Amino acid sequence: MLDKIYTAIGSPNIAFVKYWGTRNEKINLPFNSSLSMTLDKGVISTKTSIVFSKKFDKDKIIVDGNELNLEEPKNKGRFDIIEEARKKANIDAKALVVSHNNFPKGSGLASSASAGATLAFLLNKALELNMNERELSIMARKFSGSACRGIYGGIVLWHRGMSDDGTDSYSEQVLKKEEWSDLIDIIVLISEQEKKVSSKEGHVHTATTSELFRIRPEVAERHVERALDYLKNKDFHNLAEIIMRDSNSMHAVMLDSYPPIFYLNETSKEIIYRINQINEENKENIAAYTFDAGPNANIITLKKYKDEIIEKIRDIQGIKDIIVVEMDQSGPILSNDHLINDY
Ligand code: PMV
Repeated sequence: MLDKIYTAIGSPNIAFVKYWGTRNEKINLPFNSSLSMTLDKGVISTKTSIVFSKKFDKDKIIVDGNELNLEEPKNKGRFDIIEEARKKANIDAKALVVSHNNFPKGSGLASSASAGATLAFLLNKALELNMNERELSIMARKFSGSACRGIYGGIVLWHRGMSDDGTDSYSEQVLKKEEWSDLIDIIVLISEQEKKVSSKEGHVHTATTSELFRIRPEVAERHVERALDYLKNKDFHNLAEIIMRDSNSMHAVMLDSYPPIFYLNETSKEIIYRINQINEENKENIAAYTFDAGPNANIITLKKYKDEIIEKIRDIQGIKDIIVVEMDQSGPILSNDHLINDY
């Protein structure tokens, strides 16, 4: 257990129904349930290595070559779950964590979801904690809300929960990849810049200042219920409408915060218009746009429509890259290809 290097690979997830706004920012308790698709770690992933050793005098976390500062609020969750795992294992050795994302961090491509799920999974293995998936999703949630969903593959539901201690705010898989393997995400990379307002700040700011946010939890719960139905019936047309409505609803409450938060830019808006146009031409929804806390677009569609959609959006000014990603069948997995050699 000590002085042994463990490595895992996990991936981001893209929410069909969004989590935005916390009722408890310390342990990331949401106001509403949310629903996501885990993305293929063969294409987009976070790799993390960890070693616990008595040789270290403090926990050290290096992400994409930069050491993280424990004092920064957005990093606190990472250190907190290492401490929680250490207490569970009843040890006092400190950890060295080295992590690498193969996609831009902080650009609204859910790097925290990927990193959080991977770290929780790894802590469980490295310290032999024998936690089950539900417990792991609760631990990952404390790192970053969306990480709670990243413990599983397929389509994942995060139950908002009602209790103050968060024991009922966990995720579970609701659909396996093989049940609808045609669903894909076309990631449209527009900006690699880190967002101006971190999601950690944004969750609190919106929940405390937006008037529109008062109805958001009820709207999102309804979206979750309907999306679950459409997923079970493989009704893409109606699922797409819910995905687009929910993204619009989240960005509306962001804008309604005071002072407002904007994550979309002109290219994002052009993508929205273009997807609407494509759907109108087809007389049914063949694509759904969705945006997280950044301008990059995720276009959810079915494999058979991929080429048509890419062809019809590729000329939009400001697009830097287009990455096609399938659903992943699993959450994080172990790897023998370590990022730590000597320490
Ligand atoms: O998990 P966080 O704190 O980074 O929140 C991000 C939430 C969104 O990505 C904007 C939406 C979601 O449900 O993933």
